[in-house]
Amino acid sequence: MPPTANLAGHVALVTGAGRRLGRAFAEAIAAGGADLAVHYSGSRAGADEVVEAARAAGRRAVSLRADLSTVDEATTLVPRAAEALGEVDWLVNSAAIFEPWTIDDTTPEAWDHHQAVNLRAPFLLSQAFARHRAGRPGAIVNVLDWRALHPGPDHLPYTIAKAGLAALTEALAVALAPAIRVNGLALGAILPPSDAGGSQAVRGVPLGRWARVEEAVDALLFLLAGPGFTTGTILHVDGGRHLVPGTSP
Ligand SMILES: NC(=O)c1ccc[n+]([C@@H]2O[C@H](COP(=O)([O-])OP(=O)(O)OC[C@H]3O[C@@H](n4cnc5c(N)ncnc54)[C@H](OP(=O)(O)O)[C@@H]3O)[C@@H](O)[C@H]2O)c1
Repeated sequence: MPPTANLAGHVALVTGAGRRLGRAFAEAIAAGGADLAVHYSGSRAGADEVVEAARAAGRRAVSLRADLSTVDEATTLVPRAAEALGEVDWLVNSAAIFEPWTIDDTTPEAWDHHQAVNLRAPFLLSQAFARHRAGRPGAIVNVLDWRALHPGPDHLPYTIAKAGLAALTEALAVALAPAIRVNGLALGAILPPSDAGGSQAVRGVPLGRWARVEEAVDALLFLLAGPGFTTGTILHVDGGRHLVPGTSP
């Protein structure tokens, strides 16, 4: 699906949209003609820039702050977006934390924090989204990781939360049918973590390179606006990384 797809008439809530991939997802959705709720936690300046650019292009757009590690702020985000923009028919769960804990050093706090942000929040957002849709059509995309279907020992609490989110994607595809389609986007080496160099992660990637951000964006738009008969699918955009055994760097 080209980024120039006509998305007019849709209203999307994108979590973690103040920076990096979430921001690219939000910008592409607005560029396609949809209205936009830009969620952020700390990245207020980035979120406001996305909103400004979307409004300049004629879209309706708002930025909404929420700490998705809390039940209350995760539960109320969809209603806040709906209050600001009316109907919200697309939800993109992109916000996540990604920390390099292992079996040796994972603390209960690190474990709980990853489950809260990376798994419980998408669940609470999806539940609120389904209540908001009340049987009207909609689409959810959960942003996953190739590790979600091939969990290894690295980034342990992150990986297990993403594995749970992959399972949730399939469960909700059935639970929320026929009105709401729920799909997963399992990413690989798209953007190196902001606190790390990127040269290592490409080693196990059969296609031998980092992705272009546009490739992740195109896949997201495909899952949101492409074939309406697609639900419960987990689409890998990882250069084939999930086919190669072994832990990631
Ligand atoms: N980058 C990659 O190559 C790659 C590979 C595989 C999977 N993914 C997945 O793609 C998605 C985006 O990746 P990314 O690299 O762009 O992520 P990132 O740079 O780590 O950004 C994380 C995002 O999550 C938000 N966030 C973190 N903790 C939060 C909290 N407590 N409450 C609310 N929001 C919170 C941040 O918001 P603020 O900045 O506003 O605080 C930020 O927008 C994630 O789901 C990630 O797992 C990325």
